[in-house]
Order: sequence, then C-alpha cells, then structure tokens
Amino acid sequence: MSKKPTASSDAKKAAKANTETKPFLTDVKALRARARQHIEDGAVTEGYPGDREAVLKLLNDALATEIVCVLRYRYHHFVASGIHADAIAAEFLVHSNEEQEHADWLAKRIVQLNGEPNMDPAGLTSRSHSEYVKGANLRDMIKENLVAERIAIDSYREMIAYIGDHDTTTKHVLVKILEIEEEHANELSDWLDGDWG
Ligand SMILES: [Fe+2]
Ligand SMILES: [Fe+2]
Repeated sequence: MSKKPTASSDAKKAAKANTETKPFLTDVKALRARARQHIEDGAVTEGYPGDREAVLKLLNDALATEIVCVLRYRYHHFVASGIHADAIAAEFLVHSNEEQEHADWLAKRIVQLNGEPNMDPAGLTSRSHSEYVKGANLRDMIKENLVAERIAIDSYREMIAYIGDHDTTTKHVLVKILEIEEEHANELSDWLDGDWG
C-alpha cells in the first residue's frame, strides 16, 4: 500500500489562504508549490531507484488530480451558458472524458505495480495538484481550466524527470498523458484569445 499523503502543512496553508483570498483565478504559484511538494515527498523516500512506494504515491496524486479535472470539466459542461457556450460546453465534455481516460490509465498502472488506486472522495482535493473551481462565467471557467492544465503539465514533466529511465512503462503512461494535457492547454488558450466582449 502507498503511504499516506504527506503534503506539507505550508503548502496546505498556502492553498487554503489562496482559496480564501482570490476573486476567481487560482493562484498558480501556490498550487505549483503544492504540486512540487507532493513530488518532493515522493522523491525523498529511501531506496530509489525502483522505489515502488514513491512511484505509487506520485501516481495516486496524479490520479486524484485527474478525477478533480473530470469533475470540474463535467460541471462546466453542464452549467456553461452564453453565446459561445454550445461549442465550448461540448469541448468541456470531451476534455472531461479524456481526463477520465487518464485516470483509468493511472489506476491500471497502479494496479500493475501491485498498488491500490485511491479513489476515496474523502481527501480527494487535498491529494489533487489542482483545484475544483466553479468559475463565475464562461471566461472564468476557461481560465480556471487553463490554470489546472498548466499545473498538470508542470506536474507531469516533473514526474517524468523523477521517474527517468527507472520505469519506462510508467514513464510512457505519463508522457502519453502530458501530450494530451498540452493539447488541452493550447485549446483553452486559443478560446481565451477569442472575442468575449
Ligand atoms: Fe488529464
Ligand atoms: Fe487536461
């Protein structure tokens, strides 16, 4: 079994303060610090290379992140409204389904490594690298998703660097996900460049 998540209290405080003070847009710096802390917690486990527990913890944190992304995109799909909403709401659903696919790949890999995929709703948002933010309007929703994608991209890049060539199968799964997160971020960024009045 993987160890209990040990995100630092500082990172948790930063994330909490962030949710209390920000108007709508996530504090990227605090969240990136939190994501990095998760990765460092994994990396300090003794015995790497080939430390299964450390890899399982990273994969379970990524799994939590993907589940939060599934829910956030799905929520946005159903509540999106406004003149541009139909096309974008449809794309939110596409993204949500792709995040679910990532979650499935991660869960499958965790099981292959004899670990337990943690899908417990309790503590989900504290295990996740990104947040569940509703957004006040369609533009905010796009921004929040873009922030989350950027966090995911940073996190996956760091995980890939950490895993290196010690576990090529896990690395392959992470690279495959990273490619799609980059596509998501590009799409969201293009939408933000559109005319929103
Ligand atoms: Fe994803
Ligand atoms: Fe994504």
